[in-house]
Amino acid sequence: MARPRKTNGIGIGVEDTQICVVMVGLPARGKSLIAQKAQRYLKWLSIDAMVFNVGNYRRQDSPQPGADFFDNSNEKGERMRRAAAEAAVTDMLKWFKAGGVVGILDATNSTKERRRWVKERCDAQGVETLFVESKCDDEALVMSNILEVKTTSPDYKGLDPETAAQDFRERIHNYEKVYQTIDEDESHLTYLKIMDVGKQVIINRIQDYLQSRVVYYLMNLHIKPRSIWLSRHGESEFNLEGKIGGDAPLSARGEMYAKKLPDLVRESVGDDRPLTVWTSTLRRTIATARFLPESYNQLQWKALDELDSGVCDCLTYQEISELYPEDFAARDNDKYNYRYRGGESYRDVVIRLEPIIMELERSENILIVTHQAVLRCIYAYFMKKSQADSPWMAVPLHTLIKLTPRAYGTQEERYDAKIPAVSTWRGKGSVAKHEDPTAATDAIGKGGDLPQ
Ligand code: SIN
Repeated sequence: MARPRKTNGIGIGVEDTQICVVMVGLPARGKSLIAQKAQRYLKWLSIDAMVFNVGNYRRQDSPQPGADFFDNSNEKGERMRRAAAEAAVTDMLKWFKAGGVVGILDATNSTKERRRWVKERCDAQGVETLFVESKCDDEALVMSNILEVKTTSPDYKGLDPETAAQDFRERIHNYEKVYQTIDEDESHLTYLKIMDVGKQVIINRIQDYLQSRVVYYLMNLHIKPRSIWLSRHGESEFNLEGKIGGDAPLSARGEMYAKKLPDLVRESVGDDRPLTVWTSTLRRTIATARFLPESYNQLQWKALDELDSGVCDCLTYQEISELYPEDFAARDNDKYNYRYRGGESYRDVVIRLEPIIMELERSENILIVTHQAVLRCIYAYFMKKSQADSPWMAVPLHTLIKLTPRAYGTQEERYDAKIPAVSTWRGKGSVAKHEDPTAATDAIGKGGDLPQ
């Protein structure tokens, strides 16, 4: 049966391409982080992507093995690891048969023999392979990854951290005994080799558009510890009137938030490092950021401007429902895809935010002061929110959100400025301008336990 036609959501057909991204590298080289990020990015762009983690398959039969399990001379361990790889690849190929576009095989794939086997399996089904090797000899980075893994991996759940770290080092040592980096013998492969987290990158035989897109994203990644801060502008005059869009100034309470923001940021940063601040080009975000320290570089991005509501700009929801009742209903029906007449949809906003995401991935500590819809899209990228849910998330005013990427997801902390503001959240089918956002099924920060 023919595969259903796919698009990446931006009008570029990717229906003829299926790619297996094969991760390569020793443990603690950031492979899982890279795999998770690539999946999140592609899904955010509406490209069907899935991670197949061989460790998860292995854990079904061997949940907490010691380091000797990973010694090549341990026949039972070898057999079980091979079986886990077989199961993962078989499931991945089934998933491709059902129409998957980018499958990511998250495993060490540390020998040439293993890579040849993966390629043969994929070739047999017409699936392209893109090998992505993370090679890192920077001791400090490896150490910080070891610490991260031993505190978060299910392999070490319940174990004393010192014992876990020691065992993990021995496991790495066992892999080192057989590890073969991708070299000239494998020049026929399509690969990206990332050395010391992007200090040097080698690209070989990239063949098509989708591959180059994945490669470009991966080239921009780094795994240095950092955070991203998100804030809406302070409450605006339009927020008080229940109007959408426009370029209104801050309300008196919005001004109070702008004055409080530097303290809130300092409290959440926890040290003296300066942040880079990105605002939109609209008055309310620029005004909100204007009291931040001078040592913070500030940049205005047109791409961070609020979703363009076209003919509905400067109207209240009540007015929109009266003037454009069909549009109002259509938007409620499919808010992600609904495009305002002469304006934008959430899908359009995601497309214009792609360069922002790329730049965010390249950067370290960034504070973004922006608007509700734009913040929802950026938040959805980091927190893996679905397209159906993200346009309905409640993002309260006067709250600073700190996101910290970790190996197994993004950690969120919230700092409430405790300055009252109207709620701009609107539930499906309602025209009310001020509702209780805690009723939203996916209120950002609701209970602090957002699904990853
Ligand atoms: C694992 O069992 O944790 C990973 C197996 C591998 O990729 O080497």
